[in-house]
Amino acid sequence: MADEIVAVIMAAGKGTRMKTNKSKVVHKIYGKELVKRVVETAQKLNVDDIITVVGYKKEQVQAVLGDSVKYAVQEEMLGTGHAVLQAEKYLKDKTGKVIILSGDVPILRAETLRKLIEKSIHDKEYATVLTAKYDNPTGYGRILRDIGGSVKAIVEEKDATPAQRAIKEINAGVYCFDIQELLKALKELKPDNAQGEYYLPDAIRIMNDKGLKTGAIIIEDNTEILGINDRAQLELLTRVLKNRINKEHMANGVTIEDSDNTYIYDDVVIGRDTVIHPNTTIKSGVEIGEDCEIGPNAYIREGCKLANNVKIGSFVEIKKAIIGEGTKVPHLSYIGDCEIGEKTNIGCGTITCNYDGFNKSKTIIGNRSFVGSNVNLVAPVEIGDNTFIAAGSTITEDVPADSLAIARQRQLNKEGWNKKD
Ligand code: UD1
Ligand code: MG
Repeated sequence: MADEIVAVIMAAGKGTRMKTNKSKVVHKIYGKELVKRVVETAQKLNVDDIITVVGYKKEQVQAVLGDSVKYAVQEEMLGTGHAVLQAEKYLKDKTGKVIILSGDVPILRAETLRKLIEKSIHDKEYATVLTAKYDNPTGYGRILRDIGGSVKAIVEEKDATPAQRAIKEINAGVYCFDIQELLKALKELKPDNAQGEYYLPDAIRIMNDKGLKTGAIIIEDNTEILGINDRAQLELLTRVLKNRINKEHMANGVTIEDSDNTYIYDDVVIGRDTVIHPNTTIKSGVEIGEDCEIGPNAYIREGCKLANNVKIGSFVEIKKAIIGEGTKVPHLSYIGDCEIGEKTNIGCGTITCNYDGFNKSKTIIGNRSFVGSNVNLVAPVEIGDNTFIAAGSTITEDVPADSLAIARQRQLNKEGWNKKD
């Protein structure tokens, strides 16, 4: 049988420190469940199979991942080695590599895993560990190397001698193993350690004892392997992820005035020379053209697609809005389920009334139209090209091209009505 690359994701843990009623790995980081991010990273590697080890609140994990992965169940939490062994039925007939990931380490890059797999294949290693150098390595397993620098074993903090604790190179908990040799090693694990658990990292020592070659890659970006154990770490990693995404957009030619206060979710496309002002949120999948101006204080929700030279100004929320070139929505608007043509101006305070309490309906606005301030567009409604809507109108009927629409009471002045004495 041809060699394969498969991934095993450990996600059986309880996550006590999250103080949650849910499985830890179904918590969302930046709009997406922790475990879903890990699965998507594995998918980017085009692995042949993904097996998720579930246990605590497994139905919740399964509800998030559906049939995108296979499941192994760990009934009792006996340690990481025991967790991986639960996937044996999916691994036993395979040859090749297995990468081991944790459901609570959500921002690891696919690129890093690719390097790990490549090294493992190129250097013919039976185990390749991802490591990092931390000034404060507390809590992590430490990497033991021999005089020549080869990785020999990993010792958990709780089992380490003072000299071992001083080692700053830590185990990131991410590995690439030879499938068959891993299964053999897992069966030789013994819970003869401070925590009474079957430790997956002990497989490295077992392989070394058999003379099987093992190695490691030291990660460049230490933030990638951070895990989530509590809400403070969830917040920290959200910021790390946010800054990473913002930097990618800046590298592609987008101006972000204040990265700390700009929230761009996954898979957003933004054209060159677009400027994002502070306090802007752009949700996943949105597409924005070149030379646009967004914010400050704008909320661009799912399903929006903006052409070039579009302006979305302050206190504007848009959702499922397809907006043509040169169109402006400069202030205080809600534009939802809406298509707007080119070079149209949407006046301050204009609202699409897209929801009648039961259904969402569409508003269509043509090219070169002028919607005055404080207009309500009661959907479904269609406004033609080159129209003019008077300020304060509540538009409930279609407006034909080239017309003026006024839909409000004329002003009445009652002279002397409020005169005192
Ligand atoms: C583990 C490593 C440690 C490494 C650290 C990196 C072991 C023994 N130690 O420690 O060397 O530095 O990760 O973060 O592996 N899990 C299960 N079933 C179990 C136990 C754990 O599914 O029986 C899952 C957890 O939910 C978690 C992952 O495995 O997603 C890692 O387990 P965790 O308890 O966090 O291991 P650490 O003590 O952090
Ligand atoms: Mg951990």
